[in-house]
Amino acid sequence: MAKLKSLAKHQKKSVLNKTINFFVKSNFHAYLVGGYVRDTTLGIKPIDIDTVVEGNAIKAAKALNLKLKGKLCIYKEFGTASIITKAERIDLASARVEKYPSPAKLPHVYPSTIIEDLNRRDFTINAMAMSISKEDFGEIFDPFNGLEDIKKGLIRVLHKNSFNDDPTRIFRALRYKNRFGFKIEKKTKIIMKEAIDKKMIKQLTGQRILNEIRLIFTEKKYQETIKDLSDLIIFKIKKKDWELLPLLGPNRIYLYLSKLDTNEFPLKTEERKIMHDLNKTGSIISRLEKTSKNSIIYNILYPISDQVIDMIPLIRPELKKKINIYFRLKKIKPFIKGNDLKNLKVKQGRKFKILLKKMLDLQLDKKINSRKDALQYLKNLKNNE
Ligand code: CTP
Repeated sequence: MAKLKSLAKHQKKSVLNKTINFFVKSNFHAYLVGGYVRDTTLGIKPIDIDTVVEGNAIKAAKALNLKLKGKLCIYKEFGTASIITKAERIDLASARVEKYPSPAKLPHVYPSTIIEDLNRRDFTINAMAMSISKEDFGEIFDPFNGLEDIKKGLIRVLHKNSFNDDPTRIFRALRYKNRFGFKIEKKTKIIMKEAIDKKMIKQLTGQRILNEIRLIFTEKKYQETIKDLSDLIIFKIKKKDWELLPLLGPNRIYLYLSKLDTNEFPLKTEERKIMHDLNKTGSIISRLEKTSKNSIIYNILYPISDQVIDMIPLIRPELKKKINIYFRLKKIKPFIKGNDLKNLKVKQGRKFKILLKKMLDLQLDKKINSRKDALQYLKNLKNNE
């Protein structure tokens, strides 16, 4: 915590310093909270500055932004605001209590004090605050001994209903455990397992589950969390798919999603296409391995999204050359277009399409090397009909 206080005092001209100066001089009672306090205590650079204001955070954000001159985003329904400056992002939330209408549903929120606000949070390590107001500047609020848990490396919930109230906390607990190399505290583990056995995750909307999965894949230790989810029988994954994940680069999340029941997930059409194509990579690879003919390489890969094609050499480096050939072939302009066939009175329909494809295949395989030859070839075909 000493780290936190000195950080707050010494970074002159920083967004943090300007924010603190603003609150010290203002009538708003504000605190640094959550991830900011946790990360600074851990000696990690926080991603953004989390603050809580007792009172109207939106009003405070508007006034603060006159000094910071960043981009102000207001989320009226949540009573929160963000200021995005070139250097940093600062989140301001109104201190609130949350009442859950029923398990796994989004809570109703009411204004509160900082202590009540800390009471509604997920884990002790996220339930600490430091005042940045003039009357008690630097005072630490740590009602659940989060500092102690940081020292011990423990993820601990504040109360036994925490995972039922908000089952996304199951994902969050695993993420933090792996991100910081912490352990999930014994009792917390038990109540987490109870919530899993009660199938609490099934009660979340697809949107919220997808959100959590996306967050997992932003983490360095995503693979450990995916393993934990499988071991806990939340989302089982086969060892061979799990082992593939690191090879796949930023699109690895789609391989994972393609193994889950994603009917309820609000995925974009392009994302579903990637998932669909990824499930075919096994057969694509074996077909590519068996050919070196340009037209066959082209026809195997043409229906597949580029993101998935890019992943093939990551899985089978030997196929890199054929993938390069495909991307070269893709740029080739066909000698024969639909209009040429129309001019030759070929009727629209299946035959028309087959003929167009045949002409392109011949061109890709260098059996026809100019438009003139291609037209001659077609005329011969016509005459022989
Ligand atoms: N929080 C919570 N329950 C949730 C989500 C969030 O109690 N399901 C609280 C936690 O106190 C958390 C804060 O809201 O610290 C902010 O949430 P978020 O931005 O998701 O987490 P950070 O703590 O900023 O951590 P991260 O580094 O993962 O962003």
